[in-house]
Amino acid sequence: MATEKRDTENATTGAKDELAQAAARPAAQAAQRASASEGDSGRLTLDNVSARYGAFRAVKDVTLAVRPKSVTALIGPSGCGKSTLIRTINRMHETLPGATVSGSISLDGVDLYSSDVDPVRARRVVGMVFQKPNPFPTMSISENVSSGLRLTGGTSKSEIAGIVEDSLRRAALWDEVKDKLNQPGTSLSGGQQQRLCIARTIAVKPRVVLMDEPCSALDPVATLKIEELIRDLATEYTIVIVTHNMQQASRVSDETAFFSMDDDRAGYLVETGPTAEMFTNPKQALTEGYIQGRFG
Ligand SMILES: Nc1ncnc2c1ncn2[C@@H]1O[C@H](COP(=O)(O)OP(=O)(O)OP(=O)(O)O)[C@@H](O)[C@H]1O
Ligand SMILES: [Mg+2]
Repeated sequence: MATEKRDTENATTGAKDELAQAAARPAAQAAQRASASEGDSGRLTLDNVSARYGAFRAVKDVTLAVRPKSVTALIGPSGCGKSTLIRTINRMHETLPGATVSGSISLDGVDLYSSDVDPVRARRVVGMVFQKPNPFPTMSISENVSSGLRLTGGTSKSEIAGIVEDSLRRAALWDEVKDKLNQPGTSLSGGQQQRLCIARTIAVKPRVVLMDEPCSALDPVATLKIEELIRDLATEYTIVIVTHNMQQASRVSDETAFFSMDDDRAGYLVETGPTAEMFTNPKQALTEGYIQGRFG
């Protein structure tokens, strides 16, 4: 089911705001039946995904099944397309001029690129945490967490307060901020800001959380805190994390996917498997070389 994405298409997809609604349509019913037992578990399936910047193909034919409610680490040398790939999963890639995606990406059997799926909705269901903590600078701690909810409306003030507290607790930040919820998000330390961004992401109840090197701007103590949090969140969410830190990948992930680059600089998936196996007994020499630090 190949899908070429164009910006013009996005303008016409605003009608549906629930992925589930899209799935109920005839075109998606077969896929929905196939995954009926999964419910909304957060199973991601990438099939032959390529991503381009204009004519340049940065990601080539990636086929990858991401297990629900687990942590999958994406590793590989700089420039092999890890960030590009995860940005295709929440439909952020296509927001850049000239950027296109082909292949298919589905979540719990629903094609995220179906014309029935609103990309804004897709970005809520598949949340993203970035390399550098990016709380909204003009907003308080509390407003940062509730920003997504306020944007869509329909949630009462008291409900919002409850969700803010739950999300901050879930992000292991509540005890540190409960007495200063009205202070700016940017007044927190880097590690706290990153947990705030995680709280903001989970406040809108995603099924998948993408993280692009979420600890690279943090010190080792803050890093370990986030890693603990990631393990904890994986009981509820499917997590895909890009990391250059091999220890981090081995500490935090259940599955690891190793990417490399062809001569034409197109990134491709070399192999994937359970993290313990990938780090002790990879099938490909290329993987072994990278993990042992011989290149990349
Ligand atoms: N906005 C863009 N326009 C054009 N090319 C881009 C753009 N962003 C990235 N690229 C190119 O796409 C390829 C993949 O980049 P990407 O950032 O996805 O790699 P990465 O694996 O995340 O690297 P790193 O580990 O350094 O973060 C690179 O060749 C990069 O130069
Ligand atoms: Mg990157």
